Amino acid sequence: MTVATRAMTPSTTGTHPELLEPTALTGLLDVPALAGGAGGPDVRIWTLDTATVPSAELDEARAWFDAEEQEQASAYVRAELRHAYEVAHAAARRVLGAVTGQDPEAVTWGRHDCPGCGEPHGRPRVEGADVEFSLAHTPGLVLVAVADHPVGVDVERHPDPAELTGLLGVLHPDEVSEVEQASDPADAVRRFTRAWTRTEAYLKGVGIGLGRDPQTDYLGTAAIPEREIDGWLVRDVRAPEGFGAAVATRPR
Ligand SMILES: CC(C)(COP(=O)(O)OP(=O)(O)OC[C@H]1O[C@@H](n2cnc3c(N)ncnc32)[C@H](O)[C@@H]1OP(=O)(O)O)[C@@H](O)C(=O)NCCC(=O)NCCS
Repeated sequence: MTVATRAMTPSTTGTHPELLEPTALTGLLDVPALAGGAGGPDVRIWTLDTATVPSAELDEARAWFDAEEQEQASAYVRAELRHAYEVAHAAARRVLGAVTGQDPEAVTWGRHDCPGCGEPHGRPRVEGADVEFSLAHTPGLVLVAVADHPVGVDVERHPDPAELTGLLGVLHPDEVSEVEQASDPADAVRRFTRAWTRTEAYLKGVGIGLGRDPQTDYLGTAAIPEREIDGWLVRDVRAPEGFGAAVATRPR
């Protein structure tokens, strides 16, 4: 992949709110409403608090999973990671099923080719449907983003301030400086999470993920409404206290 190193520049359109507002799902079995413009004019985003999902609903939703999902779920050693994975895949099947007019169990996952090596492990896709999506999961919160153009989404729990120094190595050097100059530990954690979720959302949108060194691109740590990088628009998404989230879209 030959994406040039470049600084992320604040967009001058100024037409977007500071944080994109996702739609909260209330469970796995209700069909989500598709109208209403959640997210922004070009992307719809749903969130789900994993702690609120009744275990009976998840038991029912597991029947939708294909063999690969069953295998991936059982490969998780930590129960909270497995739970977040399962909730994410059930929510994604429910949302993508509604978007494409299929039952959740009928949704067939595929992968775009990786832009780094050409192998089929890039962005996830729905076979037979002209829709793009991205999902992210961490214990506590799941995000599903749907667009008619390439999209990447990420969510992370705020790290413990005591562990921040050890994590900074994943950021661009200028982002590291910004985090180090934060006004207090809470500000430092918010800045780190902004830069990291923006970077992951961008690299998931591109489809290479962490196959590209996340230190390469400057996505910034300040709270500004939207940023552009190499044809991508990167925006922060409203998340519950203790989490950060971002979405990257590349209008066709
Ligand atoms: C994609 C990636 C950043 C996800 O990071 P993460 O924080 O562990 O997980 P997230 O919850 O944010 O996202 C997980 C989802 O990303 C999606 N995803 C996986 N690979 C992806 C890719 N290349 N592009 C876009 N999305 C991808 C999947 O839907 C995945 O969901 P699943 O775990 O339920 O299958 C990371 O797994 C990665 O970089 N993988 C590729 C690494 C690599 O070196 N590839 C080789 C390049 S040649």
